[in-house]
Amino acid sequence: MTQSIPKRIQSLRRRIERHDHLYYVVGEQEISDREYDALMRELKALEDAHPELRDPDSPTQRVARGLLPGFKTVRHTVPMLSLDNTYSLEELEEFDGRVRKLLGVRDVEYVVEPKVDGVAVALRYERGRFERGMTRGDGYEGDEITANLRTIRSIPLRLGGGTVPGEVEVRGEVYMELRAFDRLNERRARAGDKTFMNPRNATTGSLKTLDTAEVATRPLQIYVFQVVRPERHGLRTHFEALAWMKRLGLRVNPDNAPARGFEETRRLCERWEAKREKLPYGTDGLVVKVNSFREQEALGFTAKSPRWGIAYKFGSHEAETTLRSIELQVGRTGVVTPVAILDPVTLLGTVVSRATLHNQDEIERKDIRVGDRVIVEKGGEVIPKVVRVVSAHGRRGPRFEMPSKCPACGTPLVRDPDEAAVRCENLYCPAQVRRRIVHFASRGALDIEGLGWKTVDLLVDEGLISDPADLYQLESKRLVPLEGMGEKSASNLIQAIEKSKTAPLDRLLVAIGIRHVGSRVAEILAERFGTLEGLAAADEPSLLEIPTIGPEIASSVTSFFSSRVGKTLVRELTEAGVRPRTRAPLRAVASGPFAGKTFVLTGTLEGMTREEASRLIQGAGGRISSSVSAKTGAVIAGSDPGSKLEKARRLKIDIWDEAAFRAALKRAGAAPAAR
Ligand code: IVH
Repeated sequence: MTQSIPKRIQSLRRRIERHDHLYYVVGEQEISDREYDALMRELKALEDAHPELRDPDSPTQRVARGLLPGFKTVRHTVPMLSLDNTYSLEELEEFDGRVRKLLGVRDVEYVVEPKVDGVAVALRYERGRFERGMTRGDGYEGDEITANLRTIRSIPLRLGGGTVPGEVEVRGEVYMELRAFDRLNERRARAGDKTFMNPRNATTGSLKTLDTAEVATRPLQIYVFQVVRPERHGLRTHFEALAWMKRLGLRVNPDNAPARGFEETRRLCERWEAKREKLPYGTDGLVVKVNSFREQEALGFTAKSPRWGIAYKFGSHEAETTLRSIELQVGRTGVVTPVAILDPVTLLGTVVSRATLHNQDEIERKDIRVGDRVIVEKGGEVIPKVVRVVSAHGRRGPRFEMPSKCPACGTPLVRDPDEAAVRCENLYCPAQVRRRIVHFASRGALDIEGLGWKTVDLLVDEGLISDPADLYQLESKRLVPLEGMGEKSASNLIQAIEKSKTAPLDRLLVAIGIRHVGSRVAEILAERFGTLEGLAAADEPSLLEIPTIGPEIASSVTSFFSSRVGKTLVRELTEAGVRPRTRAPLRAVASGPFAGKTFVLTGTLEGMTREEASRLIQGAGGRISSSVSAKTGAVIAGSDPGSKLEKARRLKIDIWDEAAFRAALKRAGAAPAAR
């Protein structure tokens, strides 16, 4: 051999990398599989004979040895948000209108990209080496899945192509092509393994697998679609960023295309919609992004998503049905909304029998009457809406007229001069009170188990509660005699209410129901102010200092806390002993029996409270969930366990008794407080 061994190894690595890039990224093949295998075999043999020349970035090192201990949770340096959706070209045109108005320009240049249906990931490269890969998670924290991503051959372990940046993070979608997915399922069926529902589930499942060798057999691919902090790399437009990533050896979808102005964007959307079946991967729409980074920056973000991009979803989102009647619904803020009661019809896979009619003006404008055949549509919002009347033949029903009094309490309705909405201003209106309390206790808010519609109705009817703070005054002895209550459910309810006193502050903020404060805004406010009192004392300028908080949210927050209702509620909650906690940043725990797994607690543990158990599990890198599913890592069962235990048995999920739980805590180095 003429070359020295280190040189030969180096040359083999570069050649294999080059062929990997050609085959997996570019989609071309220069040498036969046999020639490729021969190069790989030679490299392996040389590395085995010279362990001192091993290199983690060698193409032989994509698969980790043994099982991974779990995935640690890591914080994203820049949040991984998602995009808002539009469901029609009209909605897309509205997006373009908003962008043009905010930028003050006549035409905007966009990039239109297929929205590949897979799993979003972030890849960090340092000095050109692939250092870390993460899932999106909740957008703020995700799982570190570097070892699994390293098995994907279209993810280069080293960047190439000239000047490599010192540090760069790119984001993209890991996915499976449709044909490869079918073959994977056929293979699994033959082997007697469970098949996957769809390519996306197969991708999620693969990325969560702890056996890297198994992950390597899954036909995963990636398309990158974003450079994080592109200005650091001198990039001025998104299209330039795509080309830059391609030069570095990353896989970029060749179908991404620039479009000048809305007309060109519309044409591209129409073209793709017609051709979507021909794409080798699953897609449910397109992503439209403002091309210039300067313009992107000027547009900025709302609390949930960027203003510079949007998803355009394919497909029909409309259905035709008959309008049977119009009901009035009093919301928790007193807005009275007319709701269409429809003959049930299936829309995007769900049965729709109610849809919003917004307000009197909308009904008049569209001239909607009971008995009409109407079109319902599922738009960007969750609730379907009635968009138009299709045929209104024969004698039609009378015009709809908004009543002048609240249907629930009879208080005269007031129309806000700036809004089309009418409102019942009676804060003690029973309909509002019920909704406020139901919302307070709901999943996304304080999640008080056992306090749904029925119980709230019962408690309000009995005169036991008339606002959320009253919940904390409830006594078991008053509840037991109520219909359908009994000792057990009464004490469970009291316990659940008690527990909610120390819920995270952001949940409490959602529960209080301040206008424009959803879960994301609540998290931001909780993180910034730390306590309810702190936030209540904040003025508009200090709220506006927070980048994602705009004037609408700021004014809504301050006016709530300076209102009588707001002040009373804060006082009452504090007096009742509500002490929300701030969320501790998740400690990243890489390994151990709890790391990266989800646990469900059921029954009573002898030596510790549920709160303590939850805290210990979270401290050891685990997560807590209230319900058992296939994703549950283990169920921890104390004495007198509930139906969760049966479900765990059915799903063949690990069940730990208290002794097993304590042993695991010991192994994780976490100890319960001595009693
Ligand atoms: S851009 C701020 N581009 O769709 C979010 N996303 O809701 C920027 N996706 O989470 C995302 N193809 O998982 C972008 N070409 C593409 C995409 C794409 C698929 C997914 C991604 C993201 C979701 C958007």
